[in-house]
Amino acid sequence: MSPFLLTRTLPEDATDAALRADVQQGLTGTPKTLPPKWFYDAHGSELFEQITELPEYYPTRAEREILVARAGDIAAATRARTLVELGSGSSEKTRYVIDALSDLHTYVPVDVSESALTQAGQALIAERPGLHVHALIADFTASLTLPDTPGPRLIAFLGGTIGNLLPVERAAFFAAIRSLLSPGDALLLGTDLVKDEKVLVRAYDDAAGVTAAFNKNVLTVVNRELHADFDPGAFDHVALWDRENEWIEMRLRSRTTQTVKIPALDLAVDFARDEELRTEVSAKFRKEGVRAELASAGLELAHWWTDEEGRFALSLSVVR
Ligand code: SAH
Ligand code: TRP
Repeated sequence: MSPFLLTRTLPEDATDAALRADVQQGLTGTPKTLPPKWFYDAHGSELFEQITELPEYYPTRAEREILVARAGDIAAATRARTLVELGSGSSEKTRYVIDALSDLHTYVPVDVSESALTQAGQALIAERPGLHVHALIADFTASLTLPDTPGPRLIAFLGGTIGNLLPVERAAFFAAIRSLLSPGDALLLGTDLVKDEKVLVRAYDDAAGVTAAFNKNVLTVVNRELHADFDPGAFDHVALWDRENEWIEMRLRSRTTQTVKIPALDLAVDFARDEELRTEVSAKFRKEGVRAELASAGLELAHWWTDEEGRFALSLSVVR
């Protein structure tokens, strides 16, 4: 087997069909929405990497602090030979786990962003000769078929990306994860925690405007793929804390009354002045909530680690 394999589990025309369906559904409903996976074309992945370095965006640094401190514990508890990572992005923080897993045979990064997978995969095989890297271009909310590689298996889902799924989607997601695991396998999950509202809002509305550019990138993707005529400058980035649901909500607010044409869908979408399009939620968690959601899927919380400041948690769960 070659040390770097890239498998496209979704043919490009299926991706195109999924985008069309999501845009059609999201922009004709009330309120208007667009699903977050379409943020991540090559430019979106690049903008996300810039977000991770912003002074306001603490989750990446907090999670890295935990990984540095706990990689040895994670390796000892799992002895994983296959590490699967969902929404792997740059795989940058994952290196601490990879380096600690002395018997690791195969790393399986899974992402919708082909550019992120290629860059991360090439860098990893150069740094860790002998490690098999089998990258999958796939949607982690759809049914996943993992390559046949040796166990025990550890599935990592970092960055707080779980918070970008709505509660019903999370339940389906955890059940699907459970079905990919056998006794002796584990799930490593990164969750951002509920904290001061000002700190949260700043993390999603930075002074340099990188998050605003990232949010608007979804419009650029729809323009390119479906020949729409969104003017990103005609929308304002909005990030607000929803106290009841305990999530940050990202929106794009129309600055004027406008009509956007999407020829590929034969659609014209009217926006009222100040009408908002919801692009993403980023839920924040508490330990007991995470434990309960995992338990509903048959996963048992075995370890809960936080950074010194208690901003972010990494948990390790096992099959019950
Ligand atoms: N794990 C990295 C990246 C987090 S950003 C970190 O912690 O820094 C979220 C990542 O998930 C992006 O790389 C994005 O391309 C990917 N992603 C988002 N939705 C996805 C989906 N439905 N299926 C697969 N990958 C997805
Ligand atoms: N998973 C990241 C998070 O919820 C993704 C993210 C960070 C994000 N900043 C964003 C998504 C801004 C959309 C807009 O923290």
